[in-house]
Amino acid sequence: MAENAPSVARAAVLKESVALPDDMLRIKGYDFNQGVDYKALLESFLTTGFQASSFGLAVQEINKMIEKRLEPMEEEQAEGYESECRTGCTIFLGYTSNLISSGIRETIRYLVQHKMVDVVVSTAGGIEEDFIKCLGSTYLGDFNLSGKELRQSGINRIGNLLVPNENYCKFEDWVTPILDQMVLEQQTEGTRWTPSKLIHRLGKEINNPESVYYWCYKNDIPVFSPALTDGSLGDMIYFHSYKTPGLVLDIVEDIRRLNSKAVFAKHTGMIVLGGGVVKHHVANANLMRNGADFAVFVNTGQEFDGSDSGARPDEAVSWGKIRMDAKPIKVYADATIVFPLLVAETFVRNASRLTSEKKSE
Ligand SMILES: NC(=O)c1ccc[n+]([C@@H]2O[C@H](COP(=O)([O-])OP(=O)(O)OC[C@H]3O[C@@H](n4cnc5c(N)ncnc54)[C@H](O)[C@@H]3O)[C@@H](O)[C@H]2O)c1
Repeated sequence: MAENAPSVARAAVLKESVALPDDMLRIKGYDFNQGVDYKALLESFLTTGFQASSFGLAVQEINKMIEKRLEPMEEEQAEGYESECRTGCTIFLGYTSNLISSGIRETIRYLVQHKMVDVVVSTAGGIEEDFIKCLGSTYLGDFNLSGKELRQSGINRIGNLLVPNENYCKFEDWVTPILDQMVLEQQTEGTRWTPSKLIHRLGKEINNPESVYYWCYKNDIPVFSPALTDGSLGDMIYFHSYKTPGLVLDIVEDIRRLNSKAVFAKHTGMIVLGGGVVKHHVANANLMRNGADFAVFVNTGQEFDGSDSGARPDEAVSWGKIRMDAKPIKVYADATIVFPLLVAETFVRNASRLTSEKKSE
């Protein structure tokens, strides 16, 4: 019967295919007849398609950063690099403020606690919320709670998280004497404060192993936050400027320090969660070396509006912020779901290799 069908329709519907390469991945998802094997489930994402496959490719990209990082550097090579850049691959981690408000804070803390990343960039909320969590809790609320009722109760909402305003009062009590001391050191010892030095100092003062920046302080991992005043910390610095005027934070020294981390690195990898300042600050530092060797972006931004937040990695290639021969990956997803799984499949799987050398130091 089919032979009688109009030939034009047959030719259109039954068009012949060229042969696809034998090594092309075939789509196949997880078979739950195997039971629940989370390792196999996550591995099956690569061949599942859509953002699951982007996740699988991001795992491969981060594992490439880790392999490069573990490559020994020749003695004479090491001499040419700044002492802080003496690993095979300098890994830059950037994340938006809300991720520190969320439980992603604990995943980030693991990475810095075990010295698995080298440079951190976040926005103001991503700094202060870590310290504030040491002083009071953040709670699970609901996206739909009324703003008016929350305001009347002195409760602040971040998505479906709730932060009592009291936590910020405790933060003021904690941070004000530290700012006093910093002004004194500036005046008597000539200390030139920068946002990264302020974060280092707060990490020392909090003295709490639950804090991300306590571990950054302990492990000497620099944390950059060029817009450090755009959050509660800025409110506190503003109030403090009436009480004890004179504190100066130098962002010029910090941009030189951040860019040097990229310029003097042997290879670099960028892992950026979310967009805005953090995404661009990490990428712009990598422009100084003519592009990062590896890059993984996890964000929900779209590119149709021309935003930097939504720009795909290929836009960064055009600017020289990612190398032309790199294979960068963007995962379009909420980082709160994706990042712990990414870390599990990469840094945690390689934890003994990544930490063995440092333990013996
Ligand atoms: N807890 C807070 O969020 C908080 C607290 C105090 C101050 N602030 C200030 O608000 C300003 C704006 O915040 P920002 O620059 O950190 O980022 P942002 O919250 O404006 O997010 C920037 C972009 O990142 C992406 N993104 C955000 N969350 C994501 C997620 N969970 N998964 C995937 N993609 C995600 C989205 O595309 C978003 O448009 C900053 O100056 C910050 O200091 C934020």
